[in-house]
Amino acid sequence: MLVAPSILSADFGHLADDVRAICDGGCDFVHVDVMDGHFVPNLTIGPVVVEAVAKATTMPLDIHLMVENNTFFVDLFAPLRPEFISFHIEEEKHPHRLIQKIRSLGIRPALALNPHTPPEAIEFLLRDVDMVLLMSVNPGFGGQSFIPSVLEKAKRLKSLIEIRNPECLIEVDGGVSDQNIELLRDAGVDVVVAGSFVYKYPSGVARAISALK
Ligand code: DX5
Ligand code: ZN
Repeated sequence: MLVAPSILSADFGHLADDVRAICDGGCDFVHVDVMDGHFVPNLTIGPVVVEAVAKATTMPLDIHLMVENNTFFVDLFAPLRPEFISFHIEEEKHPHRLIQKIRSLGIRPALALNPHTPPEAIEFLLRDVDMVLLMSVNPGFGGQSFIPSVLEKAKRLKSLIEIRNPECLIEVDGGVSDQNIELLRDAGVDVVVAGSFVYKYPSGVARAISALK
């Protein structure tokens, strides 16, 4: 299991230290939640702060856009050379065009799906993306409860991926812990995002990451 801790649950007073801790603790990606106060009822960080994260990290960035104007934000974050940029299918009129734009910038494109969006909605885009992010909470906040229907959705997505693009990764984001990680693995999930589980783990982030792995 690849693990992408979400820095949304980090201590922003010591952000660089908290980024280094997950890198030293064995994470695979550093998950960055960008919220604009419109697509979701919360506002997080822009390029100034993400640049500080990019300087502190030794692992690739996984930027998750939860915004209305995707193209504007892709242009804003592309200079920071993230590994992935995911954007929400619910908020994009021309997803195929944006996927091509992200790839042309040398970044791996990913699609994000809210809890209600069926995997079939992106069937004909699967060939063009490197990852699909399935939300297992309503986007906007860390520390929410896991929505179990994502397990069935991941299984259905996995069978579409096997036909369309077997290299495409499945990422699940929200409410992930050591209580549901085995179910996620059995559903075909490759990458988990975990914020509060990692940063609030009593014996530290490194042990939290190894517990998930
Ligand atoms: C929610 C974000 C998640 C969130 C995960 O909108 O996309 O990445 O921070 O936090 P936990 O693991 O606490 O649910
Ligand atoms: Zn996220």
